[in-house]
Amino acid sequence: AAVKKYQFDVQVKNVSRLCHAKPIVTVNGMFPGPTIYAREGDRVVVNVTNFAQYNMSIHWHGIKQFRNGWADGPAYITQCPIKTGHSYTYDFNITGQRGTLWWHAHISWLRATVYGAIVIMPKEGTPFPFPQPYREANIILGEWWNNDVEEIVKQANKLGLPPTMSDAHTINGKPGPLFPCSEKYTFAMEVEQGKTYLLRIINAALNDELFFAIAGHNMTVVEIDALYTKPFTTTALLIAPGQTTNVLIQATQVPGRYFMAARPFMDAPLSIDNKTATAILQYKNIPNTVLPILPQLPAPNDTAFALGYGAKLRSLNSPQFPANVPINVDHHLFYTIGLGINPCPTCQNGTQFAASLNNITFVMPQVGLLQAHYFNLKGVFTTDFPDRPPMPFNYTGAPLTANLGTTLGTRLSKIAFNSTVELVLQDTNLLTVESHPFHLHGFNFFVVGTGVGNFDPTKDPAKFNLVDPPERNTIGVPTGGWSAIRFRADNPGVWFMHCHLEFHTSLGLKMAFVVENGKGPDQSVLPPPKDLPPC
Ligand code: C2O
Repeated sequence: AAVKKYQFDVQVKNVSRLCHAKPIVTVNGMFPGPTIYAREGDRVVVNVTNFAQYNMSIHWHGIKQFRNGWADGPAYITQCPIKTGHSYTYDFNITGQRGTLWWHAHISWLRATVYGAIVIMPKEGTPFPFPQPYREANIILGEWWNNDVEEIVKQANKLGLPPTMSDAHTINGKPGPLFPCSEKYTFAMEVEQGKTYLLRIINAALNDELFFAIAGHNMTVVEIDALYTKPFTTTALLIAPGQTTNVLIQATQVPGRYFMAARPFMDAPLSIDNKTATAILQYKNIPNTVLPILPQLPAPNDTAFALGYGAKLRSLNSPQFPANVPINVDHHLFYTIGLGINPCPTCQNGTQFAASLNNITFVMPQVGLLQAHYFNLKGVFTTDFPDRPPMPFNYTGAPLTANLGTTLGTRLSKIAFNSTVELVLQDTNLLTVESHPFHLHGFNFFVVGTGVGNFDPTKDPAKFNLVDPPERNTIGVPTGGWSAIRFRADNPGVWFMHCHLEFHTSLGLKMAFVVENGKGPDQSVLPPPKDLPPC
């Protein structure tokens, strides 16, 4: 195994998009940021130096960080921010993982521009369990705002209203020619007739689940969230913020120029958003004057496509890559996802949107929760996060405004090392039904079941897939429906779980698990690194 070293200079740079130039926070002046390349088993050492006038923290999304939450990165959960002029070294091993993951700022909304890919190749000499591609490319989907995103968020918090929508979606940082002043920045990928290509697609958007398709070319899904899947072919895919999807494509069409396109699955009733980002798949020797063809994307709000697509995802579950689904469950958890309106004395109109799990709106602490846990600091958090909501109700059928109130708290759920957890995430009608991409730090989980309407504990578990359910780190809980996930709590530490729609995270749609130390010698949280940023 090798040691892969990177220097990340967080710095502000002027970038021009949609006919506007503005300063954005970047890593090494790049947007998107640099790609981390490693092999399974490597150690990755990234020294982050913060030259920007913002507090910074970087998360390695999907890396399990075994016993090593210190390198996980969410601000105030596993570390305090890296202040201007300071450095912190993220030092971690990539064990038992291979595929596409990504990294992003994990403080305020800075991940709007601070993100990049993590490409983990299999161990030397180990082939992919699918046809070897000729070449590969990263396709990172994102969003662009003409105004300063941190200002937009500040303003929204002051008013107690949702922040304004982005001005464009982007592919590798570029909106594509359907937007003004964007033609010359369009991302293009050259392909040769008859060859197979691997696309590593990442949804780094802040607030949109996205459909993605390529005109004229089917995609074969082979991996999600750095876990191999049973291959299946599709004309379009759905990808939620936080998720990654690897697909194979074959350049076997009439040589030409074909658009790749991404557009929101737009099931957020509060924002009508149909901006389409494009990039170009360009056959070799085809001139730029040939007009590209647009792909057919599923219609906005096509929930049937979303459910059908999700149902096709399966773990590879081969002898080499078995799906070790927990069969016996030690902790049955049931969390309702609610959006509501809470009093806000400091907001302009006295109220603000709030989001909650089991009617609890998570309050960010002032010191890192992992430090509080490791050093046994009192008064930072409690471990009384309830296993179920305060009162059962008709989660998806009750009036929109039923049960809107939430309580504030930094409440965590305590889990014994190595116990097994089943968590049902239930979307509710509180204010509005919406799809929520939930991300769990520190673990992958199996999505054993999903459905529309209210989860029925007497009937639905019988239909769970305990053989080859998809394994991942982020799951889109369906609009007005539920998802059941299972995982083994074999990683001691404090692990954040939140909706990966930044808007909802800001509103409090988050909580954390404390996984206790085990009794064995290698079952406790490692000591913190010396340069861990102080609070
Ligand atoms: Cu990709 Cu906690 O996030």
